[in-house]
Amino acid sequence: MRTDVKLYRLNQRLLAELLHAAVTDADPLEVMPPVTGPSGWAPKRRAAFVQFHEARSLSADPLETTFAITVAEQVAGAARLCPLDGQPGTAEAGVWIGRAHRGAGVGTAVLELLLNRASAQGFTTVYVSTTPDNTAVRSLLSARGVVLVPDGDALTAHIKLITDPPVA
Ligand SMILES: CC(C)(COP(=O)(O)OP(=O)(O)OC[C@H]1O[C@@H](n2cnc3c(N)ncnc32)[C@H](O)[C@@H]1OP(=O)(O)O)[C@@H](O)C(=O)NCCC(=O)NCCS
Repeated sequence: MRTDVKLYRLNQRLLAELLHAAVTDADPLEVMPPVTGPSGWAPKRRAAFVQFHEARSLSADPLETTFAITVAEQVAGAARLCPLDGQPGTAEAGVWIGRAHRGAGVGTAVLELLLNRASAQGFTTVYVSTTPDNTAVRSLLSARGVVLVPDGDALTAHIKLITDPPVA
C-alpha cells in the first residue's frame, strides 16, 4: 500500500489547489455535477466547481465532508463522505484522482484511508455506486473483497465497517 497518499480536510487553500488539479488533470464530468454552457473548464465551470465545494463542505452547516487527496503532499484529487438520507450510520463515498496519478495504486490507498475516516466519524457503513464500465473502481473494490450488485443502471455496494466492540 502506498504511504505517500494522504487525506486532508478541505479548506479554502486546499480548494484553490484542488481546482488547479481538476482543471489541469481531469474532465469536469469526472469531478462535479454537469453545468450548462460550453464544454471544458470555462470560467463559469471553474466558478461552479468552487461554489459546489464551498456550499457542500465549507459552509457553516456542511452537507458532506470533502478531503483533498495528496500524493507526496501535492493535491491530486478529492474524496468525500456524504451521510445518506434515510440510512442512519451510512455515508456515500466518492473519489476522483487526476489522470497523471491514475493506475498507480493511489485509488486503492484512498479507499482504505476513506473507510478509516468514515469509521472515525462514527459511520458503520459506506455506500458506493459506480457504473459497469468503470473498470478501475470495480477492480479496486473487488481486490478488497467488496461485491458490487446491480441496481438499475448502476453497480452498488454497502461496505460494513469494522467497529471496535464496546469496552466491558
Ligand atoms: C476510479 C479511480 C478513483 C481509481 O483510482 P486509481 O488510482 O486509478 O486506482 P488504482 O491505481 O489503485 O487501481 C485500482 C485497480 O484498478 C485497476 N485500474 C486502474 N485504472 C484502470 C483502467 N483505466 N482500466 C482498467 N483497470 C484499471 C488497477 O489495475 C487496479 O486493479 P488491480 O488491483 O487488480 O491491479 C480513478 O481512476 C479516477 O479518479 N477515475 C475518474 C473518476 C472516477 O471514475 N471516480 C469514481 C466514480 S464511482
